Amino acid sequence: MADDSFLKQAYQLKNTADTIALYQEWAESYDRSVREHGYVTPGRCVAALQRHQSDKNVPILDVGCGTGISGYVMYQAGYHYIDGSDVSQAMLDKAALLGDIYHKLHLVNLDNPFDFEKGTYHVITAMGVIADKHAPPETIIQLLEKLEAGGLLIFSLNNHTLENPAYEKTAFRAEKDGLADILEAENGPHMTGYNMTSKIYVMRRC
Ligand SMILES: C[S@@+](CC[C@H](N)C(=O)[O-])C[C@H]1O[C@@H](n2cnc3c(N)ncnc32)[C@H](O)[C@@H]1O
Repeated sequence: MADDSFLKQAYQLKNTADTIALYQEWAESYDRSVREHGYVTPGRCVAALQRHQSDKNVPILDVGCGTGISGYVMYQAGYHYIDGSDVSQAMLDKAALLGDIYHKLHLVNLDNPFDFEKGTYHVITAMGVIADKHAPPETIIQLLEKLEAGGLLIFSLNNHTLENPAYEKTAFRAEKDGLADILEAENGPHMTGYNMTSKIYVMRRC
């Protein structure tokens, strides 16, 4: 069994500097520790992607791609035009070792994390990324605004994150304001070893 101290720290972060420092250190053992604790959210996100995106030849951005677990499951499902971005160089270095999974990997900073033209991607995913001391609630709006009409945003919110109503309120506001429709918001397992759950949102840009 892998040391789960990094996993525990991920839910006790104090600020975003802590977050970046954590992933720099955790990169080496991240895959092993999340797999051993039953991290099933990426598989659920990809199942949702398959329900709403039958054309697999569309450009996808995997925000907070980390070591590439999220890109790997999309690739296995037949989606092969994936770029990844992350705030941690150490996590991106691990993703690069996966070879063909990602076309491009971008190191981003928190001041300007989405530095690309609207419509560059038809699908944007954020698996395990929009969360306390990770990407904030307004990320949902920022990412929707980068999609053309018909584009999809798929993201997960874990049960700790859902305790803060600001995240879901932001998704509801986007729908109310006519920015996007919520196609799915399904609860299910997240990290089975810790009995954690997540809600997976699929939103389509209007
Ligand atoms: C729990 S990991 C998830 C990685 C990958 N998506 C997966 O499912 O395994 C969270 C990732 O989000 C990155 N991250 C944290 N805050 C972020 C932010 N504001 N914007 C983009 N990435 C962020 C971290 O560096 C880390 O690689």
